[in-house]
Amino acid sequence: MQVSVLVVSLVLMIAVAAAFWRAVLHSAADEAQPRPSGHVEGYRTGLFWALVVLGAVAAVATLRPWPYDASASEGAIVVTATGSQWSWEIAPQQVPVGRPVVFKVTSNDVNHGFGVYDPDGVMLFQTQAMPGYVNQVRYTFAKPGKYRVLCMEYCGLVHHDMIEEIEVR
Ligand code: CUA
Repeated sequence: MQVSVLVVSLVLMIAVAAAFWRAVLHSAADEAQPRPSGHVEGYRTGLFWALVVLGAVAAVATLRPWPYDASASEGAIVVTATGSQWSWEIAPQQVPVGRPVVFKVTSNDVNHGFGVYDPDGVMLFQTQAMPGYVNQVRYTFAKPGKYRVLCMEYCGLVHHDMIEEIEVR
């Protein structure tokens, strides 16, 4: 599926590029107006190629392994987190430092938001907790400590009290 999406995207991109290239060639041939001075044209050409090079460098620099490296989850600790009105059931609640943890997050009733905060209160990541779905999020804790889980989505009267703790050691 992902491969066919990639192929279709590439074909469409090539088609769009070809259409643009055709338009450029035609406009150059049909141009009735006086051409800009050599100085301006040289500047435009330079700018054009500078942008092409910049785009290529940006594209290469932001390349990521594709499809995203599923094997990075090998040897990961699996933690299940289930939200209910109004509490979290998280197991296990202790995880080691420096090892990938895969959180499998779901809900027993309504939508909740599974948000994890570091000991300084900085949010690290979040995902939705949805009934009937298991959302996965992978994270490797770099520091030991007590991390807080808060509900990120209003889910009723006691939403504010859906607080749980994960100990990293
Ligand atoms: Cu659960 Cu808000």
